[in-house]
Amino acid sequence: MQIVWPQQAYLEGMRDALARGWSPDNLSGIEAAREELAEIDADPAAYLASQVDREAAGHPIKLPNGELATRLPGFRRWIWDGGFCGLIGLRWQRGTTDLPPYCLGHIGYSVVPWKQRLGYTTGALALILEDARAEGLPHVIITTDTSNVASQRVIASNGGVQIGTFDKPPEHGGAPSLRFRIDLG
Ligand SMILES: CC(C)(COP(=O)(O)OP(=O)(O)OC[C@H]1O[C@@H](n2cnc3c(N)ncnc32)[C@H](O)[C@@H]1OP(=O)(O)O)[C@@H](O)C(=O)NCCC(=O)NCCS
Repeated sequence: MQIVWPQQAYLEGMRDALARGWSPDNLSGIEAAREELAEIDADPAAYLASQVDREAAGHPIKLPNGELATRLPGFRRWIWDGGFCGLIGLRWQRGTTDLPPYCLGHIGYSVVPWKQRLGYTTGALALILEDARAEGLPHVIITTDTSNVASQRVIASNGGVQIGTFDKPPEHGGAPSLRFRIDLG
């Protein structure tokens, strides 16, 4: 397993996963998958370019409830084992570890159902923490639903320490959630 920078050679695998009903967004589900498919089909090169956006030059972020919010600098890397496995993304604000209220954590991930329980997300998080360190972040915040045991295992295996509980804001569905911090020092 590796995390790759999105590029043409991997795009068909990504597209196929979306077409099979996998969604990179837990809450928006199939609707988010359809939107990404439409973006890929409309302009594959622009879609690939949009995956790595350290300048936050892209269009605003669509929150799960459809509201638009200011895009943060960030990128997505794709989890790859010879086929497309999922994605892991990092975003941040310049000069601070703080995040705006609509952005629940620095890192998000999703693995296609047919590649789950192979340790891929645990490994991918370890790898993207190197990217976070390289961007100058002294720590990252990751949040997950209280019910999401797999995600909590992933975070714990990478040194995450629980620092609080909260209810997600309504635009993110309101679920009871846990907040973790991983120090990168
Ligand atoms: C959460 C998710 C990314 C985990 O991906 P994964 O690649 O299967 O994770 P790993 O294989 O690295 O497994 C991590 C741990 O979780 C456990 N695990 C994985 N799936 C599990 C499940 N469905 N139920 C219980 N435990 C599970 C694994 O056994 C492993 O435990 P261990 O550390 O004790 O060995 C994946 O389930 C997923 O994409 N879910 C939907 C999207 C999502 O929830 N994203 C996270 C939002 S915060």
